[in-house]
Amino acid sequence: MAEKTRNLRLGVLISGGGTNLQALIDRSLAGDLAAEVVVVASDHKDAYGLVRARNASIPSHVVDYAAKSKQDLTESTLSRLPTDLVAIDRRQRILKNPDVQARRERLARLLLAEQELIEILDAYKPDYICLAGFMRLVTPYFLSHFNQNGQWRVLNIHPALLPSFPGQHGYEDTFHYGGKWGGITVHFVDEGEDTGPIIAQAPFPVWPTDTLEGVRERGLKLEYELYAQCINWLAAEQVRLISTETGRTTAVITDPFYPDILARWMEMALAPV
Ligand code: GRF
Repeated sequence: MAEKTRNLRLGVLISGGGTNLQALIDRSLAGDLAAEVVVVASDHKDAYGLVRARNASIPSHVVDYAAKSKQDLTESTLSRLPTDLVAIDRRQRILKNPDVQARRERLARLLLAEQELIEILDAYKPDYICLAGFMRLVTPYFLSHFNQNGQWRVLNIHPALLPSFPGQHGYEDTFHYGGKWGGITVHFVDEGEDTGPIIAQAPFPVWPTDTLEGVRERGLKLEYELYAQCINWLAAEQVRLISTETGRTTAVITDPFYPDILARWMEMALAPV
């Protein structure tokens, strides 16, 4: 690992099986990840990833988003929102419901859940928050809590080559569309849906004989590699953020071994699963 590398503290958010979480835990224990998972949180008490966290003696927490989504929004609840609902609604780019009242109510409930989530995460002083199959929207309130002083501290792994196939079903969408190449993207999270600055991407072929399960299997193997590598680059300060001519922020990898790493990913992508 590069000279400047420091060990990062990660908060990992999951909703399901948590194989990416497991890959981070395993690499961290093996000394292949310049980071430690210090807390795991889920929106769902039955997420198997919570068992993985417990097995690894990592503190885990549940924020009951489902209960929050049914909570009565009384005047008193609304007065306890952690931030200005109207301002957050103006900044967010994901909820598209034209019914302003309904949209803001949904947002208000998300904010209540996020308030609890932030409190949990902050207690562990994470350097980065890694979304790893976390099936909830994160609002600008959550993002601006972690992204301060020009730093981007919320990461996501997405199972498609963005900007193609954003949303929750990257593998399915690629496969059913008849894409001949699938891919993986690790990116910083911004206020849109899978639109934040891309850190790394790797493609893989969808073979004529592939099933959706085969595509997912090949993709997941690459996911584990990419997520860990991106975290190592962040730990080594080898991710530089620049503004492009169009005003978009983009991430540049300064690791001199970048081409070799890409070549390894391509080799993995072509290997039979
Ligand atoms: C992965 O495919 C990831 O890209 C997506 O959600 C899935 C999570 O899988 N965001 P797992 O829970 O890590 O097995």
